[in-house]
Amino acid sequence: MRVLVVGSGGREHALIKKIKESPRVDYIACAPGNGGISYDAECFNVGATDIDGIVNLAKEIRADFVVVAPDDPLVLGMVDALNAEGFKTFGPNKAAAIIEGSKVFSKNLMLKYGIPTADYKVFDNPADVISYIKEKNEFPTVIKADGLALGKGVIIPENLDEAVAGVKEIMEDKIFGASGNKVVVEEFLTGPEVSVLAFTDGKCVKPMVSSMDHKRALDGDKGLNTGGMGTVSPNPYYTDEVARECMEKIFLPTINAMNAESRTFKGCLYFGLMITPKGPKVIEYNCRFGDPETQVVLPRLKTDIVDIFEAINSGTLSDLKIEWDERACACVIMASGGYPKSYPKGLEITGLEDGNLDGVTVYHAGTKLDGGKLVTAGGRVLGVTALGDTLPEALDKAYDGVSKIHFENAHYRKDIGQRALKA
Ligand code: AMP
Ligand code: GLY
Repeated sequence: MRVLVVGSGGREHALIKKIKESPRVDYIACAPGNGGISYDAECFNVGATDIDGIVNLAKEIRADFVVVAPDDPLVLGMVDALNAEGFKTFGPNKAAAIIEGSKVFSKNLMLKYGIPTADYKVFDNPADVISYIKEKNEFPTVIKADGLALGKGVIIPENLDEAVAGVKEIMEDKIFGASGNKVVVEEFLTGPEVSVLAFTDGKCVKPMVSSMDHKRALDGDKGLNTGGMGTVSPNPYYTDEVARECMEKIFLPTINAMNAESRTFKGCLYFGLMITPKGPKVIEYNCRFGDPETQVVLPRLKTDIVDIFEAINSGTLSDLKIEWDERACACVIMASGGYPKSYPKGLEITGLEDGNLDGVTVYHAGTKLDGGKLVTAGGRVLGVTALGDTLPEALDKAYDGVSKIHFENAHYRKDIGQRALKA
């Protein structure tokens, strides 16, 4: 089989390394990919949101299967365009991807179908948001831009001044463009967070092993929100009992709700959950694999991922047994100094050989090959990942790998997994 993967980050690299394990696959292409991915797949300089470009590339390379990994092309309808040309795909169509593309949609869906989530109200006018927040006078509160915002569309003001400033940025200055035309204001929930990625063909849902992200830039969950600074799997807060409750009250009801809305979801549905004192609640849905959750979940997948993709495509997922490695997995993100704000690019990365390092798996997120040299090219640069019989062993291995890789001002959290170890 010839497989094309759309995207360019650590998540896509993890998908590609897993696809490469399939005996059914003899060629993998990636668009646009990155420096490290080019060791595992042929990279083509076509943008991940360039729908016509990707359809043409799929034709050119005679792809048998196209995996659309990032949120924006899914929300734009890339899968619909590929299907219209007869390509088999992995990822939801446009109608289903709205579950991530619009927070207003997803909140209304949860309300309509009784899926547990934070109480909320929708606004399309900044003055109304502020008078509502003023009147409620409960802080912290949570304000979310309706549309996609590179994972940065959520603010959690501690007081009215912060709320006013945030609403101005989102709804008036439009820092996320049209994504800020509407906002959701919701109740602030507390409790440990769990990420659960789930395979679904729209009929059955098969959750993958759980994981825990570390979203803040600095140790001790301080600093700015990022795309994710590291992950561990499994997540100890996701006990068997919580898993059963999630299946009954969240996973199946969500799949059924999407069917009832004529928006059957096929692909990987990401459940961002909070285990509150009142039980698990949905913080967010994503219409795709998480990044960097994928980097700790897929190394534990024992079943051929291409078999899973095909089963989802043909609606036969319930017949497939999906098997997982019992071991723990840890991923430490090495980021550019300055991330998630501005950072330099083009810094040489040393310590890797053909992008790899013995003892760990190095997923490349923001790297580029520059005349044979590997250099930094993004905020999150590498995801250094290891399996271990225990979580401490996985963490030791991953951090040992990190200590051997260098680029100027590399920044990484030293406490990935510590919260999980204290659970
Ligand atoms: P999101 O981009 O929706 O994942 O939100 C980013 C982060 O904001 C989440 O991982 C949570 O830590 C936090 N968050 C989002 N919604 C809430 C909420 N209702 N209560 C408390 N924290 C939240
Ligand atoms: N790591 C969070 C996400 O992929 O949205």
